[in-house]
Amino acid sequence: MNKRFYVTTAIDYVNGQPHLGHAYEKVITDVIARIHRAMGEPTFFLTGTDEHGQKVQQTAVAEGQDPRAYCDALAEVWQEFARTLGLSNDDFIRTTDPLHEAIVQAILAKLHEQGDFYKAPYRGWYSTKEETFLTDRDRRPDGTFDPAYGEVIELVEDNWYFRMSRHQQWLIEHIEQHPEFVAPDYRRNEVLGFLRNNTLEDLCISRPKARLSWGIPLPFDPDYVTYVWFDALVNYASLPGMRGDTVVLDALGRWLPAGVRIEPNPELRLWPADIHVIGKDILKFHAVYWPIMLKAMGLPLPRQVLAHGWWQKDGQRMSKTTGNVVDPVAVIRDWGLDAFRYYVVRELDIGPDGNWTDAGFASRYQAELANGLGNLINRSLAMLRRYRQSVVPARHDELAPEVGTAVAEVLEHCRRHALQDALIRIWALIDRANQYIDQTAPFKLAKDPAQAERLDQILYNLVETCRILAVLIHPFLPDTGRRIYEQLGIEGAPDRFELAAWGGLAPGHRTQAPTPLFPRRD
Ligand code: MSP
Repeated sequence: MNKRFYVTTAIDYVNGQPHLGHAYEKVITDVIARIHRAMGEPTFFLTGTDEHGQKVQQTAVAEGQDPRAYCDALAEVWQEFARTLGLSNDDFIRTTDPLHEAIVQAILAKLHEQGDFYKAPYRGWYSTKEETFLTDRDRRPDGTFDPAYGEVIELVEDNWYFRMSRHQQWLIEHIEQHPEFVAPDYRRNEVLGFLRNNTLEDLCISRPKARLSWGIPLPFDPDYVTYVWFDALVNYASLPGMRGDTVVLDALGRWLPAGVRIEPNPELRLWPADIHVIGKDILKFHAVYWPIMLKAMGLPLPRQVLAHGWWQKDGQRMSKTTGNVVDPVAVIRDWGLDAFRYYVVRELDIGPDGNWTDAGFASRYQAELANGLGNLINRSLAMLRRYRQSVVPARHDELAPEVGTAVAEVLEHCRRHALQDALIRIWALIDRANQYIDQTAPFKLAKDPAQAERLDQILYNLVETCRILAVLIHPFLPDTGRRIYEQLGIEGAPDRFELAAWGGLAPGHRTQAPTPLFPRRD
């Protein structure tokens, strides 16, 4: 088996509320995974939860629960969320999985043996909420820290550090030589600017166990646990390792804790990851710290870190306290999953920030889904039923060249992961097909028996275009793609782009009765 196309999302803090931002990241990653499957590539899509840390420990204790039981319950919520979003993830990693913990320990043991770590006192301003030390750069003009950091306390303690400085130069060169390593371009420039103008500070990787027990113990200093990034970032490589990926096991297997054995699976072939999809707020961790950690571990670097923007609602930061939030689960319940998936991918290109408005959502639903796509499928199948008893007429290629161009352009956008451009191009084809109905007016031709052959031609062009649309739409709106195939009476799913070749519908084939895909809402 060839190496799989391996794509990941960030892993979400298990104690957070699943919201629009998480949903967006998961949906765009799902679309990318489905695109690669449709292109015939073996693909692996990973998502999961980030479960250790101060906040989880604090909340569990406050609720009188064992942190593990508390995480088990929350992880179930996140897994249910993934199902609600229709994700096609191949696995779901939890950082409290004992095998993940074992691989984190193997990495720590290896790096310690190599001399990558040292212990030193640390004094600083510490945000318990963000589990991070803050610097003067995090202060507001009036000298205070943003209330978003929660309680900020001064803390002095010994900790373990990861030596960074020796890694700065090669990383700059790597990013210069691999322009695709950080996307979009302006994010890459941001990372390069940061690396060229700052000296990387050593990364603090531990917390004393006395203060934070809900973490992975350092194998070489049991008074400490590793914290946040040395645990969370590792998930991308630990999951392949846990499932037997030989690239990961060859680099780390020797350092696994005593008694832990993982069976190699040479067929798996996941690492290195092809794309880490993340939000812009965690770019530095993914584009600077993570590659450096990997280099130290002896693992190849991922091909790309793809940073998306942040969503606001009505031009303002979403916040539970003000009630200004979009609850994706409620939207999906009210409007359907594919309406949600369509809106977020169509509204926001991967990169810039976006703004959710309920009115914008309703208007895209009405114009583009109900009147655009839904109407085209409905009218085409209804006319075939009324005029030809649902039997597909002889093949005719009037729209074939236009559809062929559209397919080629959509696939090109898909290859570049330009998801918004792909949807815009698909909808241009939908508009064209609706216009074709208005221009050729089959409902008029049907009244004139002398026009029977022309009517056959138009009907073939329409239903074949609908079929190809099902294939193009499927990675974005999987359920809609399947339903169009079902209404066309075609077995199986429209889940391979090679099905988008003109002429797939055989004359004599019988379609089903149309049912509205996106019922109109008033
Ligand atoms: N646990 C860390 C990530 C570790 S990855 C090794 C974390 N978790 S998070 O739950 O806070 O965020 C998860 C993802 O959701 C991040 O990529 C983040 O950028 C994204 N989003 C959170 N809020 C968002 C919006 N309002 N809009 C878009 N995405 C946002 O960070």
